[in-house]
Amino acid sequence: MAKLNFGGVEENVVTREEFPLSKAQQVLKNETVAVIGYGVQGPGQALNQKDNGINVIVGQRKDSKTWDKAIRDGFVPGETLFEIEEALQKGTIICYLLSDAAQIALWPTVKKHLTAGKALYFSHGFGITFNEQTGIIPPKDVDVFLVAPKGSGTSLRRMFLQGRGLNSSYAIYQDATGKAFDRVIALGIAVGSGYLFETDFKREVYSDLTGERGTLMGAIQGIFAAQYEVLRAKGHTPSEAFNETVEELTQSLMPLVAENGMDWMYANCSTTAQRGALDWWKKFRDVTKPVFNELYESVAAGKESQRSIDSNSRPDYREKLEVELKELRESELWQAGKTVRSLRPENQNASAKENTSSTKEVFRKQALKTESIG
Ligand SMILES: NC(=O)c1ccc[n+]([C@@H]2O[C@H](COP(=O)([O-])OP(=O)(O)OC[C@H]3O[C@@H](n4cnc5c(N)ncnc54)[C@H](OP(=O)(O)O)[C@@H]3O)[C@@H](O)[C@H]2O)c1
Repeated sequence: MAKLNFGGVEENVVTREEFPLSKAQQVLKNETVAVIGYGVQGPGQALNQKDNGINVIVGQRKDSKTWDKAIRDGFVPGETLFEIEEALQKGTIICYLLSDAAQIALWPTVKKHLTAGKALYFSHGFGITFNEQTGIIPPKDVDVFLVAPKGSGTSLRRMFLQGRGLNSSYAIYQDATGKAFDRVIALGIAVGSGYLFETDFKREVYSDLTGERGTLMGAIQGIFAAQYEVLRAKGHTPSEAFNETVEELTQSLMPLVAENGMDWMYANCSTTAQRGALDWWKKFRDVTKPVFNELYESVAAGKESQRSIDSNSRPDYREKLEVELKELRESELWQAGKTVRSLRPENQNASAKENTSSTKEVFRKQALKTESIG
């Protein structure tokens, strides 16, 4: 384990250099890793482990399209693909990758198969941290840990196939066998993590719930909507409002921030943009900070987890979700976005290419914009 300096704070990090795949294979050589659930994380983690030479099986309910997907991905019924309970019985390490709501429903079955010395693995601190709400309380004689990839299971797989790795956090909640550290890190490497940083279950879930409600998803949509609505109210066209609110951010600026950091992006934009950004960012921080505090308190009080459990456990969950997504999809902002996306050169079909003057004008403006931002 290495200690790395993150902006002046030292943290424990495990990289593939200190814990190579060969070591992970050695640690896991006598284990059967049962990946329970084949939704989003399940495929990424199971396929990466399989390709990394780990003895992995999948547990998935049978009357489901997901079962067929696992077969299409190369898992063989009766050999490496089983009904959930059979996989639970065979597995020595149980990777509990059902949706968080399903984890609550299936817990009594899982618990039955957690015999001494087995390990229970999560990719989220939710079930354990909010155990008063979830009822997930593991027996004392099993290891309990997590590896939480910081991204979608799809990205985990895609990056693995590209020879890259998504970073993940890891945490140990219970070390019953004395082998929990080696087991969790071996699994983290085997599922395709680029490196692993240390956390605990509570911090993992508090930060995750805050992040997805905040800047990663909730806050960003809120800020997009606010700016777009102001620009529209002041007479700007939808295409202009969308370009200035979303398109330039996702297409031009965020990739630069991802590569080099915010200071670099500020240093490499026009002096007009630079001055404005430096003058305004603290105001936005100060205005939104109370909302982030309110959000964190709501997470810590268990209100967000309870709301998520209540709404995701309802039988009409999918229909209600679709109504809310439809509202977003049909909003003028995202309808404008659809047209803007279709105008990207890589998305243009032949007929759009023929649609000359107005399209060319949009390209010209976009090109000018991109140049001015550098
Ligand atoms: N999504 C991500 O990329 C991501 C990222 C980091 C961490 N995580 C964590 O990883 C874990 C898995 O998340 P996920 O997004 O991969 O889950 P998901 O896609 O929502 O999980 C779906 C899986 O759960 C099964 N399932 C749902 N309800 C069930 C029920 N009542 N009985 C039996 N099986 C049921 C589904 O089977 P059917 O298809 O048959 O319904 C499918 O196999 C969660 O703890 C999550 O917080 C997820």
